[in-house]
Amino acid sequence: MALCLGVAEATDGEAMVPTIDAPAWFTSEQAERGEAKYQSECAECHGDEIVDVIATWPRAGFFYNFISSQMPIDNPGGLSPQDYTDILAFLLAANGFPAGDEELPPDREIIDTIEIRDLLPE
Ligand code: HEC
Repeated sequence: MALCLGVAEATDGEAMVPTIDAPAWFTSEQAERGEAKYQSECAECHGDEIVDVIATWPRAGFFYNFISSQMPIDNPGGLSPQDYTDILAFLLAANGFPAGDEELPPDREIIDTIEIRDLLPE
């Protein structure tokens, strides 16, 4: 899949990824921060593939647990909870989750409630 790097909006005003019907968990600024972190901390090994990979996870909590304890593979757990949360926001945005007015906090209890796979189109 071609990654749309400007996750917020394309220049013609059309979102490049269709927005799905889901709660707004994060802001577009947060997703943009996460995109920059993903590019600097993850893309050297993964390219854009994790954008698609996250869509196979049932819940954001499992995914967050995995990345925040195992990744980057050469520095597991080396980023701050805020950075992992921002990266999560970016990956959700890149899959069409809508942005809203409030940031997603680095709070496992909240992150655990985010469903992913069942909300996305097949
Ligand atoms: C130095 C290389 C490297 C970096 C940097 C890195 N990873 Fe990984 N990642 C790997 C390797 C190798 C695997 C496969 C090994 C495994 O599954 O345990 C992997 C596996 C994964 C998986 C599981 C893949 C799947 O198919 O389910 C996810 C998700 C992931 N990485 C996310 C991230 C994120 C997010 C970051 C940035 C914070 C990151 N990785 C940074 C090397 C890297």
